[in-house]
Amino acid sequence: MTDFVYSPGEADFADRAHDVYRRLRDEFPIYHNENHDFWAVSRFDDVREIASDAERFSSEGTSLGENLLPHIQTMDPPRHDALRNLVSVAFTPRRIAEIEPRVREVAHELIDEFAERGQCDLLAEFARHLPSRVIGEMIGVPPERREAFLGCTEQMIGVTPDTGSDANVREPATRIYQEFTQLLEERRKHRRDDLMSALLEAEIDGERLSQEELLGFCFVLIVAGNDTTTNLIANGTVMLAHHPDQRRELVDDPSLIPNAVEEMLRYEAPAQALPRRTTRKVEIHGETIPADQEIKLVWAAANRDEREFPDPDRFDVRRKIGRHLSLGIGRHFCLGAKLARLEARVGFEELLARMPQYELEREPRWIPSIWARAYDSVPVRFDPYQTPKSMGMVSARENMPKRIHSI
Ligand code: HEM
Repeated sequence: MTDFVYSPGEADFADRAHDVYRRLRDEFPIYHNENHDFWAVSRFDDVREIASDAERFSSEGTSLGENLLPHIQTMDPPRHDALRNLVSVAFTPRRIAEIEPRVREVAHELIDEFAERGQCDLLAEFARHLPSRVIGEMIGVPPERREAFLGCTEQMIGVTPDTGSDANVREPATRIYQEFTQLLEERRKHRRDDLMSALLEAEIDGERLSQEELLGFCFVLIVAGNDTTTNLIANGTVMLAHHPDQRRELVDDPSLIPNAVEEMLRYEAPAQALPRRTTRKVEIHGETIPADQEIKLVWAAANRDEREFPDPDRFDVRRKIGRHLSLGIGRHFCLGAKLARLEARVGFEELLARMPQYELEREPRWIPSIWARAYDSVPVRFDPYQTPKSMGMVSARENMPKRIHSI
């Protein structure tokens, strides 16, 4: 008998998360929560193997899809692959590199709003807006509707065992579908250079996508790319506040920022865990799991597995990270990975060029959520007149590789 419980989303879970994950890895590598009727794997190799095996571990019929129209994250092949191929062209390295100037421009504009104040809520005033403006423009969401979408996606973070998925998923999702129904109607009349127009034109085996598929696609593009990237940037800002020596290294040498972003992803996975469903009886660590059971892949625990990462609880922007699981793996590997990495890199390049030294006004608090690693706010204070130059350093922007400098 044990009193150990893994039940993410409970009021104090987020503060204890990494202790719980350690016990999961060490003592319960295959864990069963009978109350909430799910299993969980937490070791790096197990999470990687299950995420890569779509035959035995399906993405269909899990709690993630409850109250939602099907979308690629909740689909299996062959429909998953066919639908994903339609939009993957918009996320190729070349297409993502092309939007870098726009990402930098948005980052600039946002920082201009608070730079002279010497104080801001980095989450509410910067991290919240950068990803949503970028993906909103890619999809074709008009600027005046952006805030409505943001409110809906933020409501979804707050899913906990207490709130259930009705209030926090069904209701905001319905509003998102309504918004997109209207926007798609407008696009049917007037095509533009955006993802909604591309999806309306797209065909699989000579057939257009159904209205449900269109809505599901628009939904996943706007929801999957918003909070995750917001939290990567906001959480990373806090990590650098906790490690000012490492922040100074990034200010001094911005070419370290891409690696720092990988370490931020590894250290606090913005999407902590996502589910699969067993398609048949499987055996894991000597435990037999029947067919049709939900298994949570705890990315956040796998990323701190000492079997994979030496000294995993140490945050180190210079760590050599061959791989981590924060963006998934296999056929469901994050479609927006390159975009998220671009936004975080450019975001930190611009932030550190304008506020090379900052401190937290208070220690931020984690929001209870079954899947997200999210703070409630990140209030910071900084000297508005201090720049890398005034600190005797080369500015982050001046020190950037030519490719970026020419923009
Ligand atoms: C730091 C930011 C992000 C994180 C941590 C993240 C995390 C993930 C993870 C873990 C998965 C795998 C899901 C699974 O295996 O069940 C995934 C899939 C996905 N992500 Fe991201 N994501 C991020 C940013 C983005 C962005 C910016 C987009 C923009 C479009 C996006 C779109 C998607 C989509 C569409 C999928 C489903 C892919 C599929 O099922 O084939 N994500 N993401």
